[in-house]
Amino acid sequence: MDIHTLMADDKKYYMNTFGQRIPICFEKGEDCTLFDQNGKEYLDFLAGIAVNTLGYGDEGFIGALEGQLEKLIHCSNYFYNEPQTSLAKLLCQNSCADKVFFTNSGAEANEGAMKLARAYFYKKGQPREGFVSALHSFHGRTIATVSATGQEKYQKPFAPLLHGVTYVPFNDKEALAAAVTENTAGLMLECIQGEGGVWPATQEYLEFARELCDETGTLLILDEVQTGMGRTGKLFCHEHYGVQPDLFTIAKALGNGLPIGAVLSKDFCASFEPGDHGTTFGGNPLCCTAGLYVLGRITLPGFLESVTQKGSNFKAALSSLMQYCPKIVDVRGMGLMIGVQLAADTPTAKVTAKLRELGYIVGTADGNVLRLLPPLVMKEDELLSIVPAIKTAISEV
Ligand SMILES: Cc1ncc(COP(=O)(O)O)c(C=O)c1O
Repeated sequence: MDIHTLMADDKKYYMNTFGQRIPICFEKGEDCTLFDQNGKEYLDFLAGIAVNTLGYGDEGFIGALEGQLEKLIHCSNYFYNEPQTSLAKLLCQNSCADKVFFTNSGAEANEGAMKLARAYFYKKGQPREGFVSALHSFHGRTIATVSATGQEKYQKPFAPLLHGVTYVPFNDKEALAAAVTENTAGLMLECIQGEGGVWPATQEYLEFARELCDETGTLLILDEVQTGMGRTGKLFCHEHYGVQPDLFTIAKALGNGLPIGAVLSKDFCASFEPGDHGTTFGGNPLCCTAGLYVLGRITLPGFLESVTQKGSNFKAALSSLMQYCPKIVDVRGMGLMIGVQLAADTPTAKVTAKLRELGYIVGTADGNVLRLLPPLVMKEDELLSIVPAIKTAISEV
């Protein structure tokens, strides 16, 4: 179908939640390159928004999925399935968590974590209602997670929202101390605010958040939906900080494109009991096979080190652009999660359009931040190739 017919049918039949989509239809991917219907190639610095960690067409990944496709795609959670149990075990063995629950998305993982936090206090006989989250955060689109998302623009049509959520400015210890009390069930934070503009938490902020949760008995919930699964050079971003959450959530890269997320919990607060929570699709054999393969690859010796190494060279090269491009005012992030902040008056949409013309797909965040989330397997020369392209794109708009 040609792009114009596709756009017309999309306009007629698909709910317009994505606004004016970019007029490109991708047909296939190979390694870290996407191909549109006309065969034009784009090096992918978005990876389906931090999802396609292993790029496209990874032979081992496809082989693992093919094997499972032939055996069993789905079965009810009334029964056991081996990939589910194996993935739960491997996630616990590689993290501070003791127990796992699988979901189909990041929002569902966060929703599950919020339910788990309330269930924990309810079962202790000391119910707590409140959640504290940060302004500019993003936690998902269900009613509970949109309530936890500290951005009014996502919340407006859905009032009344979940009762009891308080928002605090990110990286502000005083505001946190005033908001987290003995009535707070969960403090929910991203280690790096992704959608909010690629803002890392400071070391002292996350340490303080942990202390405050310990003092008030609040559960620390870290949303690692975007930062998890190696994106920042550690399997989970909280490892950089040496701060252990009570609960944390992952999704996106866990399935390398198959829909799977997870709530990971310490034993003491893993208080769901039979009937409290559930899912039809979550934890099915196919998606868990994807997760097992991805986790296996990311934990191979040297993989995360290479993400750190490539990320630091990439960030240094992007930072060096600042001396030639006054429009670049900051470069921040960790590993291969990098934000290039452009000056407020930069026409960012034109910069990204120019980059597409030059054969590069990038994301944006918070208006004028270029959000770079390439597949973790992207080669260093490919990563560095976008640096002059960004310079050109900025100088031509
Ligand atoms: C930090 C964070 N949490 C939650 C979500 C929601 O995930 P999903 O779109 O899979 O529901 C996202 C998605 O961008 C995210 O970045």
